[in-house]
Amino acid sequence: FGERVLAGLKVVVSAGPTYEDIDPVRFIGNRSSGKMGFAVADAAAQAGAQVTLVAGPVSLATPQGVSKRIDVRSAAQMHAAVTEAAAGAHIYIGAAAVGDYRPNEVAPHKLKKQNGQDLSLQLAQNPDILASLAAQQGHPFLVGFAAETQNVESYARDKLQRKGLDMIAANQVGDGLGFETADNAITLYWADGSAQLPRADKAVLARQLVDHVASRYRVQRG
Ligand code: C5P
Repeated sequence: FGERVLAGLKVVVSAGPTYEDIDPVRFIGNRSSGKMGFAVADAAAQAGAQVTLVAGPVSLATPQGVSKRIDVRSAAQMHAAVTEAAAGAHIYIGAAAVGDYRPNEVAPHKLKKQNGQDLSLQLAQNPDILASLAAQQGHPFLVGFAAETQNVESYARDKLQRKGLDMIAANQVGDGLGFETADNAITLYWADGSAQLPRADKAVLARQLVDHVASRYRVQRG
C-alpha cells in the first residue's frame, strides 16, 4: 500500500455513533465503536488525502496524518459539521451510525420516575446527512455504509439508489462481525459493479476500501 492513490484530494470521513439527549443524564445511542470510520480516515490519510474526521462520541485516538478532527454528539451537530467540511471536499465517506430519531424535546431536568406508569417518548426524525449532501450541487463523491442483519445486497443496492450515493459498503452485522469488533467483512456496490472484501481486520479492509474508492472516483470524476 505504498501508493498515494488519494494524493491531492480532500476527504471527509464521519465515524462513530450519535447520542440524542433525553435529559441531562440520559440519551439514545447505538453500539457503533467508530473503529471502522477511524480506520478509513487513517487509510485515506496514508493514501495522501487531506482528511477531516467528524467523530461522534467515541474513545479513540486521532489517527496520525488526519489533518482535522471535529468531535460532535448529536446527529444535528454531525449534520452541521459534515455539511461545512464537505463544501469543497472531493470525497465524503459516511461511516458514522447516525441516529435516525431524536427526542422531540430535551428535558431541562432529570426526568423523574412515575411509579406504576409507562413513559412515552415522542421522537422526531433526524436529517439524513448523506441524502442531504447528495441533493446539493457539486457535491463530493459519496460513499455510504450499510450495516444489515439480513438481505444485505438488496438493502444495500436500494440505499445506493435511494440516497443518490456513488458507492456503498455493506456488511452483515452479527456472527462476531460488525459493531464493537476488530474484524469485518464488506461488499462494495456501485451502480454497475461490486467487489467482495473478505473477512479481515478493519485496518486491512479500510485500505482496500480506499483503493476501490480512489479508482471509482477516477473513473467517474477523472
Ligand atoms: O439508512 P441507513 O442509516 O442504514 O444508511 C446508512 C448510511 O447512511 C451510513 O453511511 C450513514 O452514515 C448514513 N446516514 C446519514 N444520515 C442519517 C442516517 C444514516 O448520513 N441520518
